[in-house]
Amino acid sequence: MDLGTIVHLADADEVAKAAASDAALRLRSAIAERGSAVWVIAGGSSPMAAYRMLAEHHAHAVDWSRVSVIIGDERMVPLTDAASNLGAIMPVLLADPRMAAMTVLCPQVESDEVTAAAAYARALRGLSDAVGAAPVIDLVWLGVGEDGHTLSLFPGHPDFVPTAELVVPVRDSPKPPAVRITLTRAALDHARRVVIFATGAGKRAALAQALSEGMLPIARVAEHARGVGAEVTWLFDAAASS
Ligand code: 6PG
Repeated sequence: MDLGTIVHLADADEVAKAAASDAALRLRSAIAERGSAVWVIAGGSSPMAAYRMLAEHHAHAVDWSRVSVIIGDERMVPLTDAASNLGAIMPVLLADPRMAAMTVLCPQVESDEVTAAAAYARALRGLSDAVGAAPVIDLVWLGVGEDGHTLSLFPGHPDFVPTAELVVPVRDSPKPPAVRITLTRAALDHARRVVIFATGAGKRAALAQALSEGMLPIARVAEHARGVGAEVTWLFDAAASS
């Protein structure tokens, strides 16, 4: 089972620094190579410091007008709701006005989850050169839940099944809010690099299990990404390391 490379760093701050400088590098080289870059960002609290560092220290390093941003999973609440992933992330990224030039694909949270998932899948396919396929994604940031979920793909959950859909609705997420949309493994078919935020003592058990058994969603997603040729890097802080 190939789940990628594990990097051990001192604390969550070091993880955020490493992720932010890696993102600037990856997005810049994608733009140099193909004129544009696609970045899947993660919800939850763990990557927030990395968004902040990116805005504070690397905003100048990337031509943001060439970057398209996809949210990996979104809760079906208005952007102004405290539970909205994009609603929490965007003000942090936009702390540097240069970053406002990026194109953010916003899910249609005002419609129902089935319609929103289908519309978001269409938006993703719109970034693709090959009709009907997943787009090339230069960088994917993933968080991990205490139960080993990533995106809104929860262990043992009926929504975590193999599917060719790029985006699926989630109706009874064990982590509130219950109703969400999420990218699937198939959405990452042309991913080039995945960075996993493996931070905090609360994640230690799930991360150890993911790496040893490979069954939890975070491991299944990492394995899928390796299988399609993406680099996968787990950024561990000391608290999450066993
Ligand atoms: C969400 C997330 C989810 C998150 C993990 C980790 O909408 O809840 O996208 O997959 O990344 O639950 O969340 P924390 O970083 O807050 O622990």
